Amino acid sequence: MRVTILEIQKMKERGERIPMITAYDYTSAQIADRAGVPLILVGDSLGMVVLGHSSTVPVTLDEMLHHIRAVVRGSQRSLVIGDLPFLTYTSVEQAVASAGRVMQEAGSQAVKLEGGAAAAPVIARLVELGIPVMGHIGFTPQSVNQIGTRVQGRQAAAAAQLVADALAVEAAGAFAVVLELIPAELAAAITARLRIPTIGIGAGAGCAGQVQVWHDMLGLYSDFLPRHAKRYASLAEQIGQAVSAYAAEVRDGAFPGPEHSAAMPAEALRAALDQADDR
Ligand code: KIV
Repeated sequence: MRVTILEIQKMKERGERIPMITAYDYTSAQIADRAGVPLILVGDSLGMVVLGHSSTVPVTLDEMLHHIRAVVRGSQRSLVIGDLPFLTYTSVEQAVASAGRVMQEAGSQAVKLEGGAAAAPVIARLVELGIPVMGHIGFTPQSVNQIGTRVQGRQAAAAAQLVADALAVEAAGAFAVVLELIPAELAAAITARLRIPTIGIGAGAGCAGQVQVWHDMLGLYSDFLPRHAKRYASLAEQIGQAVSAYAAEVRDGAFPGPEHSAAMPAEALRAALDQADDR
């Protein structure tokens, strides 16, 4: 049985901090699932860390579906949330169609979309139709060309707007909301005002949960490490060493060894070659 949105709500009520991590394929989903992470987000951050784009903007719904399917196949217990990519929820009708594909064709248990009060009608309709929605406010990466990459809500008016956005997302029926790149004090204040859990990234320790991008926290992505990311491993280095060792062994003939190949008795080989020569 997978974790449900009700259990996530209970975790918040009990004051249990909620870990969430991104994953984009079968293997990473399996690892996160077995590690007991309750929430796996198939984020459109895959545009950068998997597909090599400079932002999430080029990511398509079909690309998301491809990765969400793999993550669903790789997980059994975690609740899988599929991100709706840029321009796939510009109207209620379009959002229903996009979220419907993410749920029905890819098999996720929830969707995430960016936006505050302006996204409330879309969130409300999806929830009404039985689609659990995670909101996402603060720095919203799909708007990077509009707002740049910087901490949001430092000024009073912007901070007040974020509080209003969080309340609107909750009132629309979202089961949780990501707070990205906002001052820690503001994130804590928003968390205290909401019933639903806040999941922070670059928003301090006062959120109900935290999310990290798989490649950032494992040291797999070397182009850029955001300040809010913590490296728990340096896998790019380790993998690089392993790949170099493999290439060196191929070059010097040490790989493959007899244990990596199938053997054939000499008489059987001789008979086969004789037959081949007679043809
Ligand atoms: O796409 C993503 O990975 C995200 C998280 C950073 C919250 O939106």
